[in-house]
Amino acid sequence: MDPESEKKLSEEMENMTFKMGEIQGVPLPETTCEIWDQIYNFQAREDDILVSTFPKAGTSWVQEIVDLIMLNGDVERSMRAPCFIKVPFIDLNVKPVPSGVDSANAMESPRLLKTHLPIQLMPPSFWEKNVKVVYVARNAKDCMVSYFHFQRMNSVLPDPGTWNEYFSTFLAGNTPWGSWFDHVIGWWNAKDKHQILYVFYEDMMEDPKREIRKISKFLGKDLTEEVLDTIQHHTSFNAMKENPMTNFSTVPSLLFDQSISPYMRKGKVGDWKNHFLVAQNIVFDEEYKKKMAGSRLNFRTEL
Ligand code: A3P
Repeated sequence: MDPESEKKLSEEMENMTFKMGEIQGVPLPETTCEIWDQIYNFQAREDDILVSTFPKAGTSWVQEIVDLIMLNGDVERSMRAPCFIKVPFIDLNVKPVPSGVDSANAMESPRLLKTHLPIQLMPPSFWEKNVKVVYVARNAKDCMVSYFHFQRMNSVLPDPGTWNEYFSTFLAGNTPWGSWFDHVIGWWNAKDKHQILYVFYEDMMEDPKREIRKISKFLGKDLTEEVLDTIQHHTSFNAMKENPMTNFSTVPSLLFDQSISPYMRKGKVGDWKNHFLVAQNIVFDEEYKKKMAGSRLNFRTEL
């Protein structure tokens, strides 16, 4: 962003307060709720691909992988624009930037789209058009830690408070986009009813090439080993941290203050151990057992 536009944005933002609203009991930014009809009535196209996640599950990572798969590993073309421009986020509406819906409507097919919506709030046209969805799930403990640091640096989301406060907020499902539990279970239960590939952040960390191959097969792409290697290399944590198109360094610091916490923060499985107190871990595990009872969904919290 040039200095003139940054100054304009800063002036426009000065008098703004970012509040949360809710749709069917799910906490969402108020600006998202304001255009809810447009979001819910969003018109998907048959050749769209959607990346869906609970926040901080590795959305940008998988977006970049899917984009490169569709481009047959053409790294230069994948760097045509920052990841948040080339992949409209349909449930986001941060003024004065065009909403995700408007950006997607203006985009030529084939489109790659992003959502954080829980399954029950999904625009029906995605199912009517039988759109392929790559859903990424990450274990709750690491998601909580990552989201805590993200809310600290992101001025569009509520301040998370202290870690202790955030721990309760997250467990109660009061974070933006709602409950981690409802999200991962809802999408898990829907995966056999639609074209949904359910992948795990921890599996991607364990063997990225295996997961990239799985995603490319799901998308109907038979890529060579060489192309898979290129994609793996270009989407590694270090490569994405260095890449201005994926590290969010082009977002004004007014919105994302990366001096507080970088977007590409740690990219690890098990960082929760550096945050959870022993007592919190006990409370969490008990609550987890109750909330996940009856689900056959299993997460790894360490590798
Ligand atoms: P941490 O905060 O734990 O480091 P999202 O894109 O959904 O907002 O998720 C962001 C999280 O994914 C951050 O987690 C970020 O570091 C991690 N991430 C992003 N790209 C990654 C990559 N290429 N490899 C591993 N982790 C990645």
